[in-house]
Amino acid sequence: MIIFAELKLIRFLKPQMTNKMKEFKRNLITCALPYANGPVHIGHLAGVYIPADIYVRYLRLKKEDVVWVCGSDEHGVPITLKAKKEGVSPQDIVDKYHNIIKKAFSDFGISFDIYSRTSSKTHYETASEFFKTLYDKGDFIEKTTEQLYDADANQFLADRYITGTCPHCGNENAYGDQCEKCGTSLSALDLINPKSAITGNIPVKKETKHWYLPLNEYSGFFEKWILEEHKEWKTNVYGQCKSWIKDIGLEARAVTRDLNWGVPVPIEGVKDKVLYVWFDAPIGYISATKELRNDWEKYWKDKDTRMIHFIGKDNIVFHCIIFPAMLKAEGSYILPDNVPANEFLNLEGEKISTSNNWAVWLHEYLEEFPDKQDVLRYVLTANAPETKDNDFTWKDFQTRNNNELVAVLGNFVNRALVLTHKYFNGIVPSVKNLSQDDNDVLNKIDAIKSDVESSLENFRFREALSRAMNLARLGNKYLADTEPWKIFKTDKERVEEILFVSLQITANLAGLIEPFLPFTANKLIQFLNIDKFDWELIGSKDILPAGHKINKSSLLFEKIEDKTIEEQINKLLATKAANSKENFKAKPQKDNISFDDFTKMDIRLGTIIEAEKVAKTKKLLKLKIDTGIDQRTVVSGIAEYYKPEDVIGKQVSVLVNLSPRKIKGIESQGMILMALDSNNELSFIQPDKNFDNGSVIG
Ligand code: 2FM
Ligand code: ZN
Repeated sequence: MIIFAELKLIRFLKPQMTNKMKEFKRNLITCALPYANGPVHIGHLAGVYIPADIYVRYLRLKKEDVVWVCGSDEHGVPITLKAKKEGVSPQDIVDKYHNIIKKAFSDFGISFDIYSRTSSKTHYETASEFFKTLYDKGDFIEKTTEQLYDADANQFLADRYITGTCPHCGNENAYGDQCEKCGTSLSALDLINPKSAITGNIPVKKETKHWYLPLNEYSGFFEKWILEEHKEWKTNVYGQCKSWIKDIGLEARAVTRDLNWGVPVPIEGVKDKVLYVWFDAPIGYISATKELRNDWEKYWKDKDTRMIHFIGKDNIVFHCIIFPAMLKAEGSYILPDNVPANEFLNLEGEKISTSNNWAVWLHEYLEEFPDKQDVLRYVLTANAPETKDNDFTWKDFQTRNNNELVAVLGNFVNRALVLTHKYFNGIVPSVKNLSQDDNDVLNKIDAIKSDVESSLENFRFREALSRAMNLARLGNKYLADTEPWKIFKTDKERVEEILFVSLQITANLAGLIEPFLPFTANKLIQFLNIDKFDWELIGSKDILPAGHKINKSSLLFEKIEDKTIEEQINKLLATKAANSKENFKAKPQKDNISFDDFTKMDIRLGTIIEAEKVAKTKKLLKLKIDTGIDQRTVVSGIAEYYKPEDVIGKQVSVLVNLSPRKIKGIESQGMILMALDSNNELSFIQPDKNFDNGSVIG
């Protein structure tokens, strides 16, 4: 093993820091606390946890003081609803999912300093104390208002306990706190045609008392703090804040609820009320820091700490407006310096949905791809929804693995290591004078490092990854240009130089890719027989000294075959089919008709005796049918469901007295009756025995 402290003496690079970073002594990184009402999926990873993990690993490599906190959000209506549905207690639900989520994160190398939970004792104390401080200072408004109530369930209906039509976009399945279709934040009383999510009842109104945070009083503060002082925030974040502050306008928000699952409202004499989940959850960041460190206050109350919240776009208002207003009201806490929120990741063109099982669940992915954590990390970073919603497809997953990880990164590293073993028994060759070309290549390492840094400092993780991959591209090009395998017999000395340079690139890669692909970086440092090293050292031209012995290596990545991808796509198709079955709703009945109207229709059984595709169309088959009356031509739009040879001989129902009409120049003399089911499948309407053609249906 090499001791890198010694190597620092020969380093020629200075660490690069932006001015922004120099202003702070330490970093506090938070990640949205996922609700413990289901497992986590690729959307969670891509939007929040991978970007944060990359950033924190980078800060750690730079030897910055950083604390990264997260945990499960264990309150809120989705949890109580799930418990009710499964006939268990809310505590059972959160216990189950907290453990599944925690394990999935750890399996993917998401390296939180602490993954806590909001049902912890420390959290209850911290959240109660926070509320009490604001209450005692008179920061809340106490209001009694009429709220929606389900008399059968004996329960007030806030947030997800109530559904109805969104007044903004007409979505019929909006919730009492938010419309997931247009993203608008709602209050239960805004909904049109509200319905209880517990019983389906139409709610009544009933008076209840709650405590409100008067956000309207903070408008001036937010205009200055965000709109003037944080113009550098991402466009999507800044834009949403501006619209809240300037267009929608800030209004007082209730921070308590009539529920029995949550942190009880700490006011004497108040019963059956808890803190609103969005009041207690962000305080979870504070509780987790307290659990992690005795000196937690340094991270929350010292202006030299830089706090950054990594979240998804649906959490922007809570992290940029509501939580900062709470912190400001309390008075002794710092505010976030940045909130790099991402947009959403879709799956194969459709919104990821926990309730519809339209997701790639992390624990399931690992069952099927047990050693491919970095492949998913890579694909989700390369395709991260940083500026707009993006789509994950299994085809893209395969392409990026095969064409980028295998063909670029894996290929270069493998060639450098295998050739070193083949020609020099795994010993880093010594070199006398490197050529100008060699030095030019080595100098590019530092330039690539600077590019990666500047992308990371600006939260542009896709760009950072693509720039880091440029180092592998550089290595591949260098080997392709120099072709050491062709000259070993004639010019061993030149091959020594080429492999020396290639090994330096490989070692630098081990450092540069660590934030993105930690499992691969670990393998690389093992192959190279070195210790993990600091960011400062990346860019060094002689990170591996001559004479150093490297270990045997294996392939970093393997090709993913079409069959594997087809299996995944088929799994999703099966989910889609099951969903359509479950969500199928029969169309409403048409207006009544008279018996006479009905008897006007002449429907007969007939047998298809000939069938062919109508030229230049996708959907049409030209059929000859023996109707018992005659043999006639019918053009039918079933070509996407049936092949001509499969329908010949089938007995079907035909409306024979439909006026003939020309379709693609062919006269169609009737119509075949078909049924369409939830999965968009077509079926003929057939008798259950073989009947004579011409038999009347009616
Ligand atoms: O949207 C969510 O999944 C929430 N559970 C995020 C909470 S973030 C924080 F404030 F706790
Ligand atoms: Zn809406």
